Amino acid sequence: MQWISVCTTDELENNQHLVVELDDMDVIVFRLDDKFYAIEDICSHDGGKISGGMCENGEIICPRHGARFCIKTGAVKSPPAYEGVECYAVRIEGNTLQIQHPRD
Ligand code: FES
Repeated sequence: MQWISVCTTDELENNQHLVVELDDMDVIVFRLDDKFYAIEDICSHDGGKISGGMCENGEIICPRHGARFCIKTGAVKSPPAYEGVECYAVRIEGNTLQIQHPRD
């Protein structure tokens, strides 16, 4: 199991998110109510980037057609997507945020 350092915890303000690139894929890292989560940045509806969307009630809304995904689990919450997106393990080492490499 490989853990990748992506940022320090204070680089990500509460209730904000940022995109990190791991190899050829993008992952959205969220700080939600002072806990950290990571999901893939590819909408399961039509492959759009989810990261430009608004967040509300623990969900991110795909800016292309409005599908909603749970920030904590990647589960789909609203059509037009019907499948969730990948969710990655997150941990904090000191003040460094790490995520589990998606391909491990
Ligand atoms: S690409 Fe995300 S809702 Fe269509």
